[in-house]
Amino acid sequence: MQKTAMPVYTGRMSHIDKLIADMTLAEKIGQMTMTASDYAVTGPVITPVSEDSIRAGVIGNMLNLYGAEHVQRIQKIAVEESRLHIPLLLGYDVIHGHRTVFPIPLAEAGMFDPAAWEATARAAAQEATADGLHLAFSPMLDVARDPRWGRIAEGPGEDPFLGAAIARAKVRGYQNLSLSDVGAIAACAKHYVGYGAVTAGREYASTDMSAGMLEEVYLPPFRAAVEAGVASVMPAFTDLNGVPMTANRALLRGTLRGDMGFDGVIVSDYNAIAELINHGVADDLAEAAALALKAGVDIDMMADAYRRGLPVALERGLASMADIDDAVRRVLVLKERLDLFADPYRRGRTPDTADALARRRALARDVAARALVLLKNRNNALPLGRGRLAVIGPLADAAGEMRGPWWGAGRPEDCVSVLTGLRQAGLDFRFAPGVQIEGADASHIAEAEALCDEVDAVLLCLGEAATMSGEAASRAHLGLPGVQQQLADAVLARAKGKPVIVLLFSGRPLVVPELAAGADALVAAWFPGSEAGNAIADVLTGRASPSGKTPISWPRAMGQIPVFFGQRPSGRPFNPNDHYTSHYSDVDNAPLFPFGHGLTYGAFEIASLRVTDEGATVDVANTGARAAQETLFLFTRQTRPGVTRPVLELKGFAKIALEPSARGTVTIPLPASTGPRTVFVGPSADPARLLSLAL
Ligand code: NOJ
Repeated sequence: MQKTAMPVYTGRMSHIDKLIADMTLAEKIGQMTMTASDYAVTGPVITPVSEDSIRAGVIGNMLNLYGAEHVQRIQKIAVEESRLHIPLLLGYDVIHGHRTVFPIPLAEAGMFDPAAWEATARAAAQEATADGLHLAFSPMLDVARDPRWGRIAEGPGEDPFLGAAIARAKVRGYQNLSLSDVGAIAACAKHYVGYGAVTAGREYASTDMSAGMLEEVYLPPFRAAVEAGVASVMPAFTDLNGVPMTANRALLRGTLRGDMGFDGVIVSDYNAIAELINHGVADDLAEAAALALKAGVDIDMMADAYRRGLPVALERGLASMADIDDAVRRVLVLKERLDLFADPYRRGRTPDTADALARRRALARDVAARALVLLKNRNNALPLGRGRLAVIGPLADAAGEMRGPWWGAGRPEDCVSVLTGLRQAGLDFRFAPGVQIEGADASHIAEAEALCDEVDAVLLCLGEAATMSGEAASRAHLGLPGVQQQLADAVLARAKGKPVIVLLFSGRPLVVPELAAGADALVAAWFPGSEAGNAIADVLTGRASPSGKTPISWPRAMGQIPVFFGQRPSGRPFNPNDHYTSHYSDVDNAPLFPFGHGLTYGAFEIASLRVTDEGATVDVANTGARAAQETLFLFTRQTRPGVTRPVLELKGFAKIALEPSARGTVTIPLPASTGPRTVFVGPSADPARLLSLAL
């Protein structure tokens, strides 16, 4: 991937330099400050935005303000009434869509489809820029192997190669060919770095890891984002090996700016600079501000630490004006790249059209259908046959929940619930929620269970509420919340041989081995977004064949966490006949479903792995009765003198769509390597399903 060339700012740079030379300290710090409007609040509002502050030039950037009219009105104050006429930069959490909500990032990751990843980012950018926005706090690139951590929902899953592929596609999608395009939005790679490794999966906890782990697992998605030209980066809230990321000069100025060559804007996370005091590395705001500035943080989001702390830090000799000027310059260059000086009102000037919205809804439906993961399908319980269905469970009539933990500007009333989707597909069904998502009320289970007697098949809609994953939503128990398991047990017992299909909604893999064993079909629906119900109906009825794969190993027991395919070998690999080998005495080592697992309505067989100059090639046949699309993965295992390497490393993936009885070949490019290695190709990371070839 070629790095997007930075424009040469000969004329404009002098304009920016002149501005900096004209600025008071307060105006400079204004460009380094991002304050929330109270339009959409994502944390404690510390500095209430005041129009006077914008007029005075002491707020240069805002978050949570969107909507063309609001934006134009506030922008006008900055551009026409402030002394230096510098336009505001407006950022927002455009995470997986804006008005049109796409599946949560973890679900999108499981599509293994760069074109789709790019398309949804492009669509989100179009909607967000029509709402006057300039900066999306996305993509979230935190590799995570611990589903207790709620933010696993927002990221790429467990694998760095996958994270890097998503990074490239998302940056392309958001930023388009040039940031100056009216429909382009600056992307923000976050949270740099290691946030996904919080101790015990507990939100905002500490992280600690080896240099090798950082380099091989957590940095690659950020490296890819920088190579793709990402405009901004957000440091993680967390500390890494004892140094908070917001003050981590070695990783920000050293690795990110120095080694990777990142020359964009570093924007702190929400209040993170002030939180350096809680981390215990600063005594007051002046020290905190100085540490962040020295580390390379250009914009202070919501801590008010630069405004209150930097003047004091300058007096104390803790900070330098040269560092302040550099930060201001980077912010102004970003505004320039977005073409804000030339025309601050262009984003938001042209209203969105109904046609464009309809196209994005169609995309949302298609993507949501392809992100569903068919984990199990005993006796081809899916697609549904003819007959009446009992729809049971608290997630069936829950349109708003379908948006997942971040919904941008998506409205609940614009979301399609499962019930609405089934109704629109013309299915004959009866519905009873049985229980609520949370809570102990089991008094309606009996009436829900009774529906089983009147139908031919049962659809159980279970799982988490949207807000049970995402930020500040770590969970220590990953079973079904409330009394849903009780409902499931009752229904499975009552259905007596009728197919029971479980749709599981969640922002993470839930640990539900009994449910998985009892269900005839199990679908990881994640949170599918605005078009949830329609997409689900498409897959249930067979109008679309599922093709999603799980981007994270699915644990069978809490005690296995973290369970991931890229583990290093043991000196005593598990051997059932030898007690003193690596194993649990009470549960298998293997996850319930391996990384990459996901069934289709076809049946794929692969054979004849060979390696040529083009890569690793296999023959593929669809021996099933339905057309379907399969994703194949390329893994390698390397041996290196003196160093252990993961037993499998993902190096590529590719898709093939085949009609029933059709055959084809799939070739996945194989990156060059020195030294001996074994190449594996298969439909998941399950060792039993991989073809291998030693090179
Ligand atoms: C805190 C989150 O960590 C970050 O991802 C988000 O962009 C900011 N809040 C702004 O809402």
